Amino acid sequence: MKIPDSAFLSRVLDGLKQAVLLSDSAKTVRFMNGAAEDLLHFSAQRAVGQPVMDVVPLGMILQAALIAGAEGTTTTLRQTPLRRANPPSEINVDCTVSALPLGEGSDYMIIELNQVDHLRKIAQETWLQDRQGAFGDVVRSLAHEIKNPLGGLRGAAQLLDRELPKQNTLREYTRIITHEADRLSGLVDRLTGGYRDIKREPFNLHAVLEHVRKLTLVEIPLGLDVDRDYDPSIPDVVGDREQMIQAVLNIVRNAVQAMGSRGTILLKTRVRRQHTLHGQRHRLVVEASISDDGPGIDPQLIDRIFFPMVTGRADGTGLGLAITQEIIRRHNGVIECTSEPGKTRFSIFLPMGHRP
Ligand SMILES: Nc1ncnc2c1ncn2[C@@H]1O[C@H](COP(=O)(O)OP(=O)(O)OP(=O)(O)O)[C@@H](O)[C@H]1O
Ligand SMILES: [Mg+2]
Repeated sequence: MKIPDSAFLSRVLDGLKQAVLLSDSAKTVRFMNGAAEDLLHFSAQRAVGQPVMDVVPLGMILQAALIAGAEGTTTTLRQTPLRRANPPSEINVDCTVSALPLGEGSDYMIIELNQVDHLRKIAQETWLQDRQGAFGDVVRSLAHEIKNPLGGLRGAAQLLDRELPKQNTLREYTRIITHEADRLSGLVDRLTGGYRDIKREPFNLHAVLEHVRKLTLVEIPLGLDVDRDYDPSIPDVVGDREQMIQAVLNIVRNAVQAMGSRGTILLKTRVRRQHTLHGQRHRLVVEASISDDGPGIDPQLIDRIFFPMVTGRADGTGLGLAITQEIIRRHNGVIECTSEPGKTRFSIFLPMGHRP
């Protein structure tokens, strides 16, 4: 049997979902796979040659594990907080340090990292996905049941209106019926909009964001800005352009409504390598984020904002984000949100191209 060469082996390591680093006897990084790049927000190119302690910021506890490793003891640090720079965030990881068995004199160390809060997120995603799928079925059948009689109701009101003499005050009532039937029909259309079948055509995500930007600039007050920071290298996304416009517009409109008369919305795109969505690892994922510097989402609502009928506005229907999430889900993507006063960010992750 042919023994695989080192380039082949590093490709195998790069394909692993587990984050793996290799440290030499001087405790400098000699190798780092794609999953570790993703987890640590550190490129392998930059990490190789750097002290392990700088690349994997777990503090003295990692130092101790490396020393124990050099003596042949495998150590697992459980649920250890790891603070990442750029953007700053804290995650919890399980970290295993073990010596690479290369024979005498070798003190190469393998460091494996596993994000533990990430596992909880995946479980939540699956739960949300099931819930949304079931909600979609209910919406489709309800929409059908409502729209048919509504059409009849509107038609009957119009016939009645025609029968009444021009000056008759009762015509005010027929007008109310027609108007309310139209409003209800519009609501049903909006609700079902996110639950239509989606097209599968390549489209440019920046064109979608630019379209939303233009639509928004027309309606917003002068003190509001919509800035952009695009990664020009992202390839086309496959899906439904119109629905994606709707999904992003719902987020941007919320930001505008929350901000009042001053502030900035930022539309940003980035490519993420080796990213997991719905339990599937993708070689390339595009992240489109919409941030605003408004007051932030009410902490009492934040866990539920993607559910239908959850609103913090007196005139809100609470459908915008539920529809957005359904559209993203149908594109096999994920939407996440973080919010604090002065910084609210919605991130849409969409898979690109083939899976590894
Ligand atoms: N950028 C944001 N800043 C502050 N709060 C937000 C932001 N985005 C969403 N929210 C909160 O989340 C709630 C839910 O938003 P969602 O779009 O689902 O419904 P809505 O805007 O209330 O109604 P609809 O979009 O159906 O007209 C909002 O009412 C608001 O309280
Ligand atoms: Mg909304």
